[in-house]
Amino acid sequence: MYSRSHRLAAALGAAACTLAMGALACAGATDVSFSAPQAERGHQLFVARCALCHGAQLEGVSAPSLLADAAPAPDAPKIGEVYDTILHRMPKTNPGSLSETDSAALVAFLLSSNGFPSGPNALLPKAAAASLTPFVRRSAAP
Ligand code: HEC
Repeated sequence: MYSRSHRLAAALGAAACTLAMGALACAGATDVSFSAPQAERGHQLFVARCALCHGAQLEGVSAPSLLADAAPAPDAPKIGEVYDTILHRMPKTNPGSLSETDSAALVAFLLSSNGFPSGPNALLPKAAAASLTPFVRRSAAP
């Protein structure tokens, strides 16, 4: 009895935390976390190395927009796939030139730009690579 209500309390606690951060989706919401300074570093990298093709507002110029679709988007890429694309295939003219740390910072920036809430901890490259969380917008586009 005790352990059952304890688990329930833990589950409710997690859900409440997610709602408090304003996230729409509960499932997997805690799967990725990134810090605001990391996203800011990603922003600087993006301006220097990505904006030419993807647009300063992520709107897409010669390359696709990086503004995610709003959920539900069944064919949305997973965050791990986005990380992989950046690490191995971007920037298009110089693939493989980004470090794992820089690629994770760029993912943090893309998450932040698509309404994912930042937290206390930076997104580690391994966590980014393994993330099965869909890359869908969590709030209105910037
Ligand atoms: C020279 C132009 C160019 C630059 C610079 C560039 N990209 Fe791309 N990017 C593309 C093109 C073209 C595609 C779509 C074709 C492909 O996936 O190869 C793409 C695809 C992507 C995708 C997958 C999007 C989708 O809808 O499939 C991501 C994520 C991405 N780029 C991130 C980045 C990041 C982050 C940077 C900066 C480090 C960057 N790109 C720099 C041209 C560019």
